[in-house]
Amino acid sequence: MCGIVGYLGKKNSKEILLSGLKELEYRGYDSAGIAVLQNDKFDSFKAIGKLINLEEKTKEFVTQGFSIGIGHTRWATHGKPTELNAHPHVGSESYVVHNGIIENYAELKKELIADGVTFLSQTDTEVIVHQFEKNLKTSTSAFEAFKKTISEIQGAYATLLVTKSEKETIFFAKNGSPMLVGINDENEKYFASSDTPLIGKCTDVNYFEDGDYGYVTPDELTIFTNEDVKKEPLFTKLSTNKLSAQKDGYRFFMEKEIYEQSSVIADTLLGRLCDDEVLFDELDDALLEGINEIKLCACGTSYHSALTASYLFERYAKIKTTIEVASEFRYRQPIMTKDTLFVVISQSGETADTLETLKMAKAAGLKTLVICNVDNSSMVRLADACVLTRAGVEKGVASTKAFATQVTVFWMMSLYLAKRNNALSSQDIVSQIKLLREIPKSVKVDDEMHERIKRLSKRYLHGHGFFFIGRDVFYPLALEGALKLKEISYLHAEGYPSGEMKHGPIALADPELFTIALLPQHLLYEKAKSNVEELSARDSTICAISSVNFDKADDFIPIKKCSHYMLEFFEMMVVLQVFSLEISIRLGNDVDMPRNLAKSVTVE
Ligand code: M6R
Repeated sequence: MCGIVGYLGKKNSKEILLSGLKELEYRGYDSAGIAVLQNDKFDSFKAIGKLINLEEKTKEFVTQGFSIGIGHTRWATHGKPTELNAHPHVGSESYVVHNGIIENYAELKKELIADGVTFLSQTDTEVIVHQFEKNLKTSTSAFEAFKKTISEIQGAYATLLVTKSEKETIFFAKNGSPMLVGINDENEKYFASSDTPLIGKCTDVNYFEDGDYGYVTPDELTIFTNEDVKKEPLFTKLSTNKLSAQKDGYRFFMEKEIYEQSSVIADTLLGRLCDDEVLFDELDDALLEGINEIKLCACGTSYHSALTASYLFERYAKIKTTIEVASEFRYRQPIMTKDTLFVVISQSGETADTLETLKMAKAAGLKTLVICNVDNSSMVRLADACVLTRAGVEKGVASTKAFATQVTVFWMMSLYLAKRNNALSSQDIVSQIKLLREIPKSVKVDDEMHERIKRLSKRYLHGHGFFFIGRDVFYPLALEGALKLKEISYLHAEGYPSGEMKHGPIALADPELFTIALLPQHLLYEKAKSNVEELSARDSTICAISSVNFDKADDFIPIKKCSHYMLEFFEMMVVLQVFSLEISIRLGNDVDMPRNLAKSVTVE
């Protein structure tokens, strides 16, 4: 996701902006840039790729004395990652950086072009600077022009604007995307998308609220609300510990990442949903022409999302889909036919086994696609096509938000392929697109639910094992729930299809065997319920997760009523993640770095 920094003061603004951007690298980006106004002159530099390229370009550039500057790491949404599309964007005497999406940019751009404005980039952001300069011609001050501009743009934004007509001012506005301003007793002002770039530089920070806009000068910080009422900044002391600051007050990165799922899934959906169709620019005809089968290959959590996809692809897109554990696929001399699209799924894009299967598929002449969270990773560079999941950096070794975004991508993709194959009616596609838009709400962590699980977790610290059971897509979710628990609690846990229990595993049933039962109201409820009743009759301790009350359970974790089983899937996913987290915390384990595990498994 894009990152923003800004600086006003007498120190070396180039270094401050570049080091601030470095702290925002974790958000993910594909290009970066800065613009500095000093001694009446603007200097601006942009580079694609890593920050080192920007550092190289600014090597000879020196800042001394008072200056104002803005910087940006761009994560492409509108327009490819090119230098022209990188921020800051320039007008005739102003520069802007922006994080978010300007939804009405197309109509504003049309009007500006009609007025004779030339656009240099394909971005939505560029309209801000031109609209500002258009308003400047008829306004009494730069601030009036900025205020008018903010009232004219719609969508999500955190934006900073600097202009020659106010050489000691940075204008800011925030709506939907994060931004804060920091101060110290040296009359400096710092802006950033998160607080880490400000640590050690500022003493106090003000986190902007949606609708806030205003300006800073050496002596002033002026904020207005979206109702144009002036308000006092609400300063809080800035932590001096980088690691804890990055955790934003959460106990562990995993917890933070569970709570982030709502916003990262909104990013995953961004620009990919119309009212009646799903858009994937990444999947073109050349890739899909002549494909009769999809083979999904991955490890661990990514394998579980692939298994979920296999249900959705066959059900909605009516395309034959097989799945493979990468470490197995490598050595079993598999038959690969050219009418198969070979899809690898990986959070990191570096997992050795998965990468190797991708190489095998390429060598066999198959078309290849990667679903990945890390741009420029080895798999992204190797595959013919790539769909990025946009989960942002995942630090917890136990994957959470990466899984959530992978499943979101697969649900979207199943509809994309369904439309292409004429496998679903337009009406069905329209109604499922509406459901997709509800995922961010479904994965919001409810405080009451979290508290309930925290209390309940104390009953699940011992026993001789856990069975997580579910049917259909709730089977891969059960596998994922079991994997999460074993990774961070070190307790033995298995995922099973509910219907398989009576074929052997039920022999283990007794009060010390914990069964975590996934009971979705909208998918095979009665069947799954009977399977749980069989276990309950044999005295297994049952914890049921459902929106329908279940009286045979010893414990019950309710989820919200939803209108579709995939929304129940996402609701239950969060419950399972929080359940593992709380058990691990009670056991005193290192949640983020569990023993024996690595975040990226780059060896076989
Ligand atoms: O980066 P990848 O998605 O390729 O990683 C695959 C597995 O190593 C990974 O999902 C692992 O199972 C996680 N620790 C799960 O939480």
